[in-house]
Formats: sequence, structure tokens, C-alpha cells
Amino acid sequence: MSFQNSATAFSSSREEAPFSIDELFFSRTDERGVIAAGNEVFRRISEYSWQELVGAPHKIIRHPDMPKGVFYILWERLKKGLATGAYVKNRAKDGRYYWVYAVISPIEGGYVSVRMKPSSKVFSQAQVAYAEALKLEANEGLTPEESAAKIREVLRDLGFPTYAAFSSFAIAQEMTARDTALARVEDGRLRSMKELLPRLHDLESEQQNLFTAFAKIRGIPSNMRIVASRLEPAGGPISAISQNYRLMSDEVTNHLGGFRVENGARSMTESVLSRVHHGIFMMAAARLQREVKMVALEAFLTAKEGDNFKYEVEVLTTLLDTYSIDSGAVLVSVFNDVTALTRSAKDLRQLVTGLDSIRVLCRVEAGRLGANSVSLMPVIDQLDKFHIEIDATLERIMHLSERVKTLVEAAMPRTANGSLHYHHS
Ligand SMILES: Cc1cc2nc3c(=O)[nH]c(=O)nc-3n(C[C@H](O)[C@H](O)[C@H](O)COP(=O)(O)O)c2cc1C
Repeated sequence: MSFQNSATAFSSSREEAPFSIDELFFSRTDERGVIAAGNEVFRRISEYSWQELVGAPHKIIRHPDMPKGVFYILWERLKKGLATGAYVKNRAKDGRYYWVYAVISPIEGGYVSVRMKPSSKVFSQAQVAYAEALKLEANEGLTPEESAAKIREVLRDLGFPTYAAFSSFAIAQEMTARDTALARVEDGRLRSMKELLPRLHDLESEQQNLFTAFAKIRGIPSNMRIVASRLEPAGGPISAISQNYRLMSDEVTNHLGGFRVENGARSMTESVLSRVHHGIFMMAAARLQREVKMVALEAFLTAKEGDNFKYEVEVLTTLLDTYSIDSGAVLVSVFNDVTALTRSAKDLRQLVTGLDSIRVLCRVEAGRLGANSVSLMPVIDQLDKFHIEIDATLERIMHLSERVKTLVEAAMPRTANGSLHYHHS
């Protein structure tokens, strides 16, 4: 082994290569991940000279503690043209390590990676997950693909249905932690988006409550008809009511189906959720991109970087434009989804009001039958209980969907005069 410089000889691999939380750095590669350019901060922290870095594969700074599965996920997504965020532990030339949260984006002819210093609680969780993945790779001889599947499984157990959901959560937490560390004002739009997540989860479980409640009453109308056949002549009022109730509750159940959507999602909220994750990622990445563009521009204007750095500023500017447009578009589509969700909830409530009036009619008829209606009472009591439960659930759904809509509105990009930047559909 040859010692390239004195630092190589003395720095321990357990030492961290320092960089401060306000610093952002980037590198640009070709389609295979061969380094084409970067900024001065990247060079300084990696401890390599430009001659060593340019033309070298990015794995020149690969740290042995990094699980192969993470890079598998990274490349799988990049090849699909998807920007990807990831925690990465790197190794400087002198053996010291440094952690980054990187956002890697496809660009014309290659990729750009922008990095910040991670400091949030999610970072600690990621470190534990990486250590476990690394152990599994070594002990069970997992292939990168198998390890990637395990990592996705661990993320699912932690409550992240997809890698995209995890990285969107992570970037939002990192941006917020960084803002706090740098005493910056909190990003209100990002906060609104983050607040959306628990509400959408609540909405999802309330919807499940509705499905379950409706499944429970399926048998009631036929029970009612059987009881009615003993109390009144065929086609009497109670059996007519029970038939109407059956027809109308079928209509409500069909409408519940309207909450479900295609494209593999279980429900409308689930599909909105995945869009919100994407929106959070794009919003946070757009901010990161804006900042790194300013960093690069300043370095260029103050001649801290060479003349050909102008090209890097242009690349970052184009990337920022893409992020701004994409994050705006995602938010508009989330807004439209949420509007549809609120409308769906309102329609549902109207249908249930109709159903409830049939229940009331049933009570009135039972009252007219007087003492004869005793056998009908348990069924009617069951309906009463069901309606109380449904009303409460619908009330919560209405409240939640209104709140969700307000939060999306707060997160929408605004035009210079403060008006919302979207078209009414
Ligand atoms: C733009 C870009 C930036 C990358 N940055 C890093 C990095 O900082 N550290 C790293 O180990 N790998 C990075 N990679 C991934 C490497 O190309 C490579 O997949 C990884 O080091 C693992 O090497 P291996 O696939 O040969 O095992 C980057 C890839 C791209 C496209």
C-alpha cells in the first residue's frame, strides 16, 4: 500500500472528515457514474485532487460500511429516471468518513448529486438500519438485490410503504433540522405538507371504519323482511321499507367504492398519500437545489472556481427549473385529488342522510304496529346503533378532508401577488 500523503498515514478510519451544516456540495457524473465535475467543497472533503476525481468512478469515495442494497435501490431508481434521496457514508482519501444526505437527479447525459450534512432523528434510524443490512449482507451472503428487498422490508416495518415514502420523510426532516441548526425561519409550505401525512393516515383508517361498518349491516334488511313477513301481509310497509333500505345501502356501498381508485392503490387516500410523499420530496429537493445553485453561482462570480464552472451553474439552474415546475405540478394534482376526496365525502354524507330517513320511517311503522312490533325492535335498535356510528365516522371524515384541503392550499405555490397558483377544474 502506498501512502499518498501524510494524512493517509495518520488519520484513523474512525475519524470524521468535518464539514459544516451550512455547506452544500455537489458532483456531476456521466451515465455510468463517472465523475465529470463538482464544487470545491466536494474536493476539499474527499481529500482528492481534481486530477484524481475527474474521470474516476464515483465509488472512489465508497465506504465499506455502506450496504450494497442501498446502491442497488439508488441505481434501480436512477435508471427509471427517478430523482432519489439517500443517506450515504463516504470515505475520504485519508480514510476518514463523512455522512451526507444526497439528492441524486438524472440530467441530460448523466446525473447530479447534491449533498447536505444530515442531522435529524431519521438519520440515527438510518444508521441503525444500514448497520443491520451490512451485517445481513456479510452473514447471509445476500446479493445486492436481496439486500435491497430486505431494506425495503425494514422500511415497511418502520411504517414507510415504499422507499420513496422513506426518502421524502427523510429529506423533509433533514431540511427542517438544518433550518433549525442554522436559525432559519421554518418553511411553512413544507410544514403544511408534513402535517398532511398523519391526517391522511387518519382519513385512511376512518374510511376503513366505514367499509367495516357497512359490511356489518349487510344482513339487516333481509332479517327485517323475515320478521316483517310474520307481522304484516306480503308487500306491507315494513318489507317495502326494508327493500328500500337494502337498495339504498347498496348505493352507499357502491359510493364507498368510489373512494377506491385504480393503479393498484387500495383507496383514494392511499393514492393521495403517495402523491403527497412525492410532493414533499420535490418541494424539499427544489429548496436544496435553489440553495446549491446560489452557492455555485457565488463561487463562480467570486472566481473561487475555474472558468468552465459556468457550465455547472447552468446545469444546476436547469435542474432547479425542473424541480420547481415538477413540485408545483405535483401539488396541483394533490390539490385536485383532495378536492375530489372532499366532494366524495360530502356525497356520501348526503346518501347516508337518505338512508337515515328510511330508518326513521321504519321506526314510525314499528310504532304503528304497537305491541306487535316487539320482534322488530332488536333489528331497529341495531340500525339506530349503526347510524350513530356512521354519523360520527362521517363527521370525522368531513372534518379531516376539510383540514387536508386547507393544508394543501397552504402548501401550494403562490404567485407574486399571493394568489394560489392553480387552475380550477
Ligand atoms: C451522481 C452520483 C453520485 C454518487 N455519489 C456517490 C457517493 O457519494 N458515494 C458512493 O459511495 N457512491 C456514490 N454513487 C454511486 C456509485 O456510482 C456506486 O454505485 C457506489 O459507490 C457503489 O459502488 P458499486 O456499485 O461498484 O458497489 C453515486 C452515483 C451517482 C450517479
